[in-house]
Amino acid sequence: MQKNIIIDTDPGQDDAVAILLALASPEINVLGITCVAGNVPLDKTSFNARQICELAGKTEIPIFAGCDQPIGRGLVTAEHVHGNTGLDGATLPKPKIELHATHAVDFIIETLKGAPNKSITLCSLGPLTNIGTALQKAPDIIDNIKQIVLMGGAYFEVGNITPAAEFNIFVDPEAAEIVFKSGVDLVVAPLDVTHKALTNPTWISELKAQKSLICDVVAGWTSFFERFDTEKYGTQGAPLHDPCVIAYLIDPKLFSGRHINVEIETKSELTRGMTVADWWGVTDRPANALFLNDVNAAGYFSLLTARISKL
Ligand code: RIB
Ligand code: CA
Repeated sequence: MQKNIIIDTDPGQDDAVAILLALASPEINVLGITCVAGNVPLDKTSFNARQICELAGKTEIPIFAGCDQPIGRGLVTAEHVHGNTGLDGATLPKPKIELHATHAVDFIIETLKGAPNKSITLCSLGPLTNIGTALQKAPDIIDNIKQIVLMGGAYFEVGNITPAAEFNIFVDPEAAEIVFKSGVDLVVAPLDVTHKALTNPTWISELKAQKSLICDVVAGWTSFFERFDTEKYGTQGAPLHDPCVIAYLIDPKLFSGRHINVEIETKSELTRGMTVADWWGVTDRPANALFLNDVNAAGYFSLLTARISKL
């Protein structure tokens, strides 16, 4: 049975690969793509989402612009990682697809209210501003949500935007706190797992060998995107973070983790956005998330190539 999902995203090259994986996979039914400010400002993330769907030839997917600022904080972006467009590394034509007039937050609320109970999974690939705002505006949708699968946070891997915090959670810790305290069934793909999903030259060559425009574009995005992490961590490849969310929905056996308590630091500026993960169960705080920490990387990259080359 197909999984009905809404993808909330801040494209970003890795978001783009995640969206392509979802659009290429028969197990997944993308009800809509909601854009949020994150890697780059909202006007660029929503433009990029239009380009990605057009590249995939999926012009029927509704795309919505959402929040342009975090809840109660100024926006922090990541052009230093993703480039000024957010999709540097490949040149795509100006998209013809238009954005829907509905605000992303209202699309999330109305879609959940109009659907059978627990029939929709929210897949968050960026800061949680849209989802946190939706839960705040319409708390009654909490029981409608089947699951939230999100890329964000870090524990043993510590932070990538500060020593303590991963970017998505750092940008909007208040929104993250709303989500992590909501009681919704959460699956979290933190840096602890995404840092084990490193791109590599063999995979890039495999992509290029597909002789497909889309695979060439993904290779270009990846080559651009990975330079930041390879320089920083001295690794041969870079973590392809966001597709872990979609891959988990397609084949959860690729991943493993632990059901634990995770809470969000929102008060201290030093550790703002830290995901305080009780991995060793040293508190009596109730478990609220499946916190992934391992992936079958070979299986993950094979899935990506197999699916995206079919688009
Ligand atoms: O920290 C990695 C996350 O931040 C990914 O979602 C990437 O796209 C950026 O949004
Ligand atoms: Ca992202």
